[in-house]
Amino acid sequence: MRINKFLAYSGVASRRTADKMIEDGQVKINGKICNPGDDVDIGSDSVSVNGKLVNVIKKYDYYIMNKPKGYVCTVKDDKGRKTVMDLLPNNSKRLFPVGRLDYDTEGLLILTNDGDLTYKLTHPKNEVPKTYLVKTEKPVSDEDLIKLRSGVYIDGVKTKKCNVRLIETTKTGSKLHVTITEGRNRQVRKMFEAVNNNVDFLKRIKIGDLVLSGLNRGEVRPLSAREIDYLLNI
Ligand code: URA
Repeated sequence: MRINKFLAYSGVASRRTADKMIEDGQVKINGKICNPGDDVDIGSDSVSVNGKLVNVIKKYDYYIMNKPKGYVCTVKDDKGRKTVMDLLPNNSKRLFPVGRLDYDTEGLLILTNDGDLTYKLTHPKNEVPKTYLVKTEKPVSDEDLIKLRSGVYIDGVKTKKCNVRLIETTKTGSKLHVTITEGRNRQVRKMFEAVNNNVDFLKRIKIGDLVLSGLNRGEVRPLSAREIDYLLNI
C-alpha cells in the first residue's frame, strides 16, 4: 500500500496531511526516511512517524458534530485557541476533522480516523455538495443571486456554478441556502464579498444528503450505521 494511503488508513492523518509529513521527513519505513511514492507491506514493514510506531487500526470511528463558532477545525492550534477536539469524548484522541469550517462558522462537521473517507469528501475533484445557511448583512438582490449562481471571481478565479436558494429577504438582510461543490478557503464569505455584501452568520447544514439534526451547538454523536454507509458510498 502506498505510504500516504497507509498513514490515512491507520488513522494518523488525512492523505494530504500525510503527504506533507512525508515531505517533511517525519515518516520512516523500517527505520529509513521514506519518499512520497514508497509502498508499505502491511504484513512485514514497520512504519514510524516522528519516532513513534504506527499501528494499523482496522475499525474506524465516525462522529458528527454541531461545531459552535469560536473553535478551530484542527487537531492542535498554534495560537492556543479552543479546537473542535476539545468537544470530543476523552477516548477519541485519534480522530481528525474532515475539512475545515472557519473559526466563525458553525454547523455540520464530521470527525473520523478514516483517511480515505476524508480524502473522498474533501478532494475538489469529487465535487461533494456542501450546503450552508447564510445570513447576510444587506439584502441580496435578484441580480446578485444570478451572479452568485453563475460564478463570481475570488482571487481572480471564477467560482463554479452553484445552487443559491433565497429563503427570505427583509430590509436588514437575506437568509439563503447555498450549496457549493468546491470548498475553497472561506468560499461562501468571499462569494458574498464579491457582490458587495457580507456574511453575518454561516452554518453548514448538509454534506451531500447527510443533515445536521438533533444536535445542539457543541454536541457530538457517533454516526449511525446508515449514515456511515451513505458516506462511504457517496
Ligand atoms: N465557506 C466559508 O466561507 N466558510 C466556511 O467555514 C465554509 C465555507
